[in-house]
Parts: sequence; C-alpha cells; structure tokens
Amino acid sequence: MSSARIVVIGTGYVGLTTGACLAGLGHRVTCVDVDEAKVARLAAGRVDILEPGLAELVGRGLTSGRLTFVVGARAAVSDAEGVFLCVPTPMGAGGAADLRAVEAVAAEIGDVLPPGCALITKSTVPVGTSRRIADLLGRGDIPVVSNPEFLREGTAVADFLGPDRIVVGSDDRAAAEWVGGLYADLAAPTVVADAASAELVKYAANCFLAMKLSYVNAIAELCERLGADITSVTEGMGHDRRIGRAFLKPGPGWGGSCLPKDTHALLRIAEAAGYEFGMLTSAIDENLAQRDRIVAKIAGAAGGNLAGARIGVLGLAFKAGTNDLRDSPALSVCSVLSAMGAELTAYDPAVGGEIAGMTVVDDPYQVAKGADVLVVLTEWDEFRKLDWSYLAELMHGDAVVDTRNLLEPGVILDAGLSWLGIGRPRARERVAL
Ligand code: UDX
Repeated sequence: MSSARIVVIGTGYVGLTTGACLAGLGHRVTCVDVDEAKVARLAAGRVDILEPGLAELVGRGLTSGRLTFVVGARAAVSDAEGVFLCVPTPMGAGGAADLRAVEAVAAEIGDVLPPGCALITKSTVPVGTSRRIADLLGRGDIPVVSNPEFLREGTAVADFLGPDRIVVGSDDRAAAEWVGGLYADLAAPTVVADAASAELVKYAANCFLAMKLSYVNAIAELCERLGADITSVTEGMGHDRRIGRAFLKPGPGWGGSCLPKDTHALLRIAEAAGYEFGMLTSAIDENLAQRDRIVAKIAGAAGGNLAGARIGVLGLAFKAGTNDLRDSPALSVCSVLSAMGAELTAYDPAVGGEIAGMTVVDDPYQVAKGADVLVVLTEWDEFRKLDWSYLAELMHGDAVVDTRNLLEPGVILDAGLSWLGIGRPRARERVAL
C-alpha cells in the first residue's frame, strides 16, 4: 500500500508504538494526546516509556517528517484516511471495561471525520463496541474497524513489526481489508473477520494465556507436593507443538496492564451473554491462591512469623524489561507481607520513588543488609549476576525465595545461602541438586 494519512489518538505504550511503527512503515502519522506537556516532550523526541527501540523509531519518524505530535483531535483528523483509537480502557466498576475515553473521543471527532475515513479501535474493547461506536457516530460513511493489538510491554516494537498475525474486523469488509493493508510490508498472516469476532480474538487470546499460566502455577504446586520438578515437567510439555513452550514459566502470579483487566472483562462479557465462564473464574482464583502460596513460602523462610521480619525484595515490576507496576504480582505479594508486619526493602532496576509499605532503594546490595529473607519477584537478568557471596555477608538470615526460578541454585548454595524456588525441590546443600 502507498503511504496513508493516519491519526493515532492516545500516546500510551500502545498508541505511541502504533504511531511510531506505522510511520516507520512509511505512513504519515499524526499522534494526538490531551496532555500538552507530554506532546511537547514527544515532539522533542523524548520518550518516557521504557520500550526498546521506541525512542529511536520516534526520532527517525520526527526527522523524516512522517511522524508528528499534536494536541487537539478535531483539527488532526480533518484529512485522515484512518484514525486509530488507542485510549485507555481500564477496568471499571464490577470488572467491565470502562469505555468512557473511547466514547468521549468518538463523540469529539464524530462530526469532523472526513467521509470514508476508517475509525479503528486498537484499545481492547468489549465485544459489540465497534457497532456501538458506529451507532454513536450515526454516520453511514464512516466504517468502524477493530484491529486489536497483541503488544507485550518491553517488546512492543518487536511485536508490532514482527507479529504472529494481524487481525482486522468490521461489518464493512473492504474497510477491514484496507486497515489490514496498512501492514502489508510485515508479511504476517492477516485474519479478516466481522467486528464482533475481531473484538473477541483479543480477549480469547489473553484469557487463554492467563489460564495457561494459572494452570502452570497449579502444576508447580503439585510438583512441590509430589516431589517433581516443574522445570522438567514444562520442558516435557513444551515439546508438544500443540502446547508450545511459551508461557509455561511458573511465577508469583500473572499481572500487568492487560491480563488482569481482560480476564475480568471477559467474565463480565460472558455474564452479560448469560454464560457462566467457570474455567476463567478458576484461573483468576488460582492467581490469587498463587500469591497467597508465595506469601506462605516467604513466611516459612522467615521462620514462620512475618511480624518484624526483614524481607529484601528484588524486583517490583510485573515482569522484567518494564518499569510498569500496574497490577504487578510483586506489589501484590509485598502489600500482603507488609500487612502481616514484615519490614520491606526493595530494589528494581527500572523502578524508583516512593511506594507505600516499603523502602525503595537504588542499589540491590542495600536490600540484603540485615535481611532475614531475600525474595526475587521479577525475573531481571541482572539479579543472576549479583555477587551472591557479598549478599550473603550482608544478610542476617540465609534464605532466598526465588519466585521466578531465575537464579542458579548452585550459585546461591555456594554463597552459603539456601534456595527455595517454585515447583522445584528446595536446595539446602550442593549434594541435593
Ligand atoms: C500481555 C499479552 O501477552 C499481550 O499479547 C497483550 O497485548 C497485553 O498483555 P504483557 O502484559 O505485556 O502482554 O506481558 P506478558 O509478557 O504477556 O506477561 C503477562 C504476565 O504473565 C506477567 O506478569 C508475566 O510475568 C507473567 N508470565 C508470563 C509468567 O508468569 N510466566 C510466563 O511464562 C509468561
């Protein structure tokens, strides 16, 4: 496809990635946000989000003139061929997605969209939203297209430019195909569907991933009870191509900006459709149970009582490679530990500032000072490379709880510490490995 005139509304991690990548693909992109200071920073090439490759892509877009940042959606859309809605759809009351931002933008630009311009939802919206937006617009000349994103934080640019698939859905098939054509250079399979199906793909995929993780965490729990090792079990499972190797790592529970909100939203969608989605409810419950099992593990490592125990925390972000704390399982574990009287000192390479219930420090060795237990909650690779003998010297106790199975147990034992992972045998002495 030749270069298209695109407007992206919302410059969060999805909107900014979408805008910068579409400009990188040769389209002329205007990114709009209501936050004037943010727009000024972006126009100067300053990117606040920790997303590999994004700042470079924004810089190249600005230099080439194919990417611009403005305030004011109405003026921006006046000659657009496609407008992407990338505004937040947070979890609202009762778990359903809060669509106020999407609806407000649709209302704001509805009467100034040029005829034939496609209005494209990238934000995860409940099934039926495209049709609802079309009704809200009341304009038969504006096709509404769902084009869900599958971007993981920390690899958003790579995911955008090397997607497993492109999904476009609309009740106007030609419009859906036109949006699919924007990605023609990416050579990914394109699924063209009706609007409702495209909207459901996103929830179905994310909830499947959440269920897969809850399942793995449950199997890890079984491993501990049965004396099996989750690493071998998932290796054995992962070779089965029907299962795949991805998303088989146990952890402190799944979190982040998507999986928790999307699982709750699909539950509400199912409920509204008269279907009780028990399997999904169980996956959410299992995720809470996992958090509680982790807390119990840490309490055990602290000698059974968390009151007054000094816990050193390595990792706060919901996963490595991001500074995002939204629905972070690490924070969730910490808040329970703190409520039970533990004293927490935490370090995360990407997170600073004040967090209630803990002292956040900017040096990983500081968390070990006087700690009874050290807990790894985010799988940052740099934790592997710490000087574990020095950490051991600084600690008061000798227990390391590794909720990501990140560390090499032998290294921890050689440092004179004990290692407790998830779904793996406890390592107290070299010979036990
Ligand atoms: C997710 C989806 O993967 C993406 O397609 C969607 O668009 C947005 O939501 P993201 O939230 O960035 O992406 O993170 P992801 O890498 O999917 O991890 C989600 C959670 O699962 C994290 O808390 C992560 O630590 C956890 N996880 C992931 C595991 O515990 N084990 C794994 O094997 C994989």
